[in-house]
Amino acid sequence: MAYKLPFVEPGKHYNNLKGEIDTAITEVLSKGDLVMRKQLKDFEEHLAAFVGTKYAIGLNSGYHALHLSLLAADIGSGDEVITVAHTFVATVSAIVHCGAVPVLIDVGKDHNMDMDKLELTITSKTKAIIPVHLNGRLCNMDRLMAIAEKYNLVVIEDAAQSIGGKYNGKSAGSFGLTGCFSHYPFKILGGFGDGGAITTNNSEVARKVSQLRFNGEDRETGEYHYHGYTCLLDNVQAAVLDLKLKHLPNWIERRRAIAKLYNQGLSGLLGLTLPCFDGEEYFDVYQNYVVRTNKRDELFSYLKEHGVETLIHWKKPMWEHKGLELGICDCSETESICKEVISLPMNTELTDEQVSYVIENVRNFYVTCD
Ligand SMILES: Cc1ncc(COP(=O)(O)O)c(C=O)c1O
Repeated sequence: MAYKLPFVEPGKHYNNLKGEIDTAITEVLSKGDLVMRKQLKDFEEHLAAFVGTKYAIGLNSGYHALHLSLLAADIGSGDEVITVAHTFVATVSAIVHCGAVPVLIDVGKDHNMDMDKLELTITSKTKAIIPVHLNGRLCNMDRLMAIAEKYNLVVIEDAAQSIGGKYNGKSAGSFGLTGCFSHYPFKILGGFGDGGAITTNNSEVARKVSQLRFNGEDRETGEYHYHGYTCLLDNVQAAVLDLKLKHLPNWIERRRAIAKLYNQGLSGLLGLTLPCFDGEEYFDVYQNYVVRTNKRDELFSYLKEHGVETLIHWKKPMWEHKGLELGICDCSETESICKEVISLPMNTELTDEQVSYVIENVRNFYVTCD
């Protein structure tokens, strides 16, 4: 069905940047710069500068950013890695594919790792923590880094949803051994296909990930150091991402402005919880604007009938997907979130009028409920 107001508008996004994008892609294609050329190196340099790390390594997905980070940290069979139950499945699959055991803990009201649970979950087998900065908001990194330091644990940040987000002025992806980014098309910095990257200050990790992404090869000597993977960020995507990176600060401001309009327009509705969390130390970038209501399914249908597309991230807790073989988790907040969340349209192409249309319809829904 065609929505009056779709969740994202990739065609509009492209058309707004058409001149720049066509020029960049034509240059790559006409020069034949297809694999690991200047465009990739430029993007890596600019991404590292944006995040505030020494290195950035372009990869083909956020999944591989997580997987190669774990490998670079020598995490494997017998090791436990703590992450959250409320995340995209890729966070957990990366741990499983390294042969390690994912230990899933609950999230708090801000949908991020519940730091009160973290320390209680650490065992002698714990090697790493993967905090997930969900929906464009960072975890409480002061508490997390202090715990990681106390127990000598590796921190790998899943920053797939939080490029440009900050905690106490420090960027997502600059706290841990690595930061893992996704450039999937609908991410805040998305390409026109899959893409990802890691950021790091550790030269050895940067070297290892650079080689693992290219089947383990040192491109200068031709020596294969590992059984690696084919997961390099391709040059066409790198060229697109590099030009989009220049727009990112403005896009983040626009997302924050839309969130503010939603916050103002939707406040005071009994039974609707907005993502206005306390804390001056957080700079949120709103990958998603997620509200909570115990009338979620009804609100979803109502908005659909009125032409507004919304999404649900995610409908059932990960451990209930039998094929993932994760066992049962005692994560009551995650369970409630899965029953109550709904993501409203959030993208830089949204006009103020469209935001007002969403607000009006959410408010009308509550009038009809009374
Ligand atoms: C929190 C989180 N982690 C990891 C990923 C994986 O990224 P990708 O889809 O680029 O593999 C995503 C992407 O949806 C994500 O949202």
